[in-house]
Amino acid sequence: MSLDFSMDTPSGPRVTIAGRERDYFSGTGYLGLHNHPAVQQAAVDAIRRYGMATGTSRGGYGEHILYAELEAEARAFFAAEAVLYFPSGYMNALLLAQGLRERYERIFIDDAAHFSLCDGARAATKPIHAFAHLDAQSLAEALRREMQPGERALLLSDGVFPISGEIAPVPEYRAVLADYPGSWIALDDAHGAGAIGPNGRGTLDYHGITAPDCLAGATLSKALGGYGGIIPASVAVIDELQRNARVYVGASPPPLPAAAASRTALALARAQPELRARLADNVRRVRDGLRAQGWDLADSPVPVVCLRARPGLDLGKIKAALFERDICIAHVTTYSSTPPGGALRIAVFATHAPEQIERLLDGFRKVG
Ligand SMILES: Cc1ncc(COP(=O)(O)O)c(C=O)c1O
Repeated sequence: MSLDFSMDTPSGPRVTIAGRERDYFSGTGYLGLHNHPAVQQAAVDAIRRYGMATGTSRGGYGEHILYAELEAEARAFFAAEAVLYFPSGYMNALLLAQGLRERYERIFIDDAAHFSLCDGARAATKPIHAFAHLDAQSLAEALRREMQPGERALLLSDGVFPISGEIAPVPEYRAVLADYPGSWIALDDAHGAGAIGPNGRGTLDYHGITAPDCLAGATLSKALGGYGGIIPASVAVIDELQRNARVYVGASPPPLPAAAASRTALALARAQPELRARLADNVRRVRDGLRAQGWDLADSPVPVVCLRARPGLDLGKIKAALFERDICIAHVTTYSSTPPGGALRIAVFATHAPEQIERLLDGFRKVG
């Protein structure tokens, strides 16, 4: 992207891009925590006290008190027995597919799954079978076709899809997988964690699922206001991931300031459920407002609002016209889970002010 479109303020509900202050409805900072003064301070304190990084993997004397503190906070947030913290949410699928390799024979993957799930699946070197997007019936057919007696499946899907904003129908998948004992579900919940569910724990929380054979890898880099990937699970599963996932064993852990900032952001997210209430409120306002203008939108708590292409509608032109009015939304054509013909993606934050949402809706009234 041209330098002219670089942000030169912190990312948040109001940013400066190309020399002008704008309403920002893009990105993934759904709870608005990345620039919270306490989060900034935690990173500053950590770098002053400990420097940038340990300079080695965690297995090789790279353990650090900041990782222990972050992981304790993450265990509390996700109500998990154990968690694993690593450099990027993109590594979730790789860690899960590689780390669980002794527990399944075949991978079944949603055909609109995120790039990281596709890459992670390939690295596991097991047979991979795709099923139709969000379609439990298609999953059942693929399982009937491919599974040999006694085999166990690993199902891979996004929890919340990054562009379409759809939520994986995990209860339906579980019902289908019940015929294949020992099978596992592993979600990439980069856009669900922190944003949905009664406790903000993401897609499994939203569905009320706490089964040990359903895992959801999260990222701290989006709603949760920090940086790095995190997997909550049982002690036994985390031990196994640490042992079997080469990417964990053979990579440096996240920078120490990222661990400290992430811990503080997670603590804020846990201590301030009103952030999620405000997010839910803003999501409702945006969805209701756009629905009233004729856009076909599901009633959903997901802060990713996806406006699909319709005949005669030029989505690129709408995005450009909104930008002219100092409103930033994304026009997406190639990212995973983009509906046919592209889409406009609106990201809603807890920190958007009512008047910003009014300006967004008014912008759509004039140019949509
Ligand atoms: C669905 C999904 N999974 C994983 C990631 C990667 O997470 P991270 O940015 O923490 O590496 C992204 C985007 O960044 C994403 O959209």
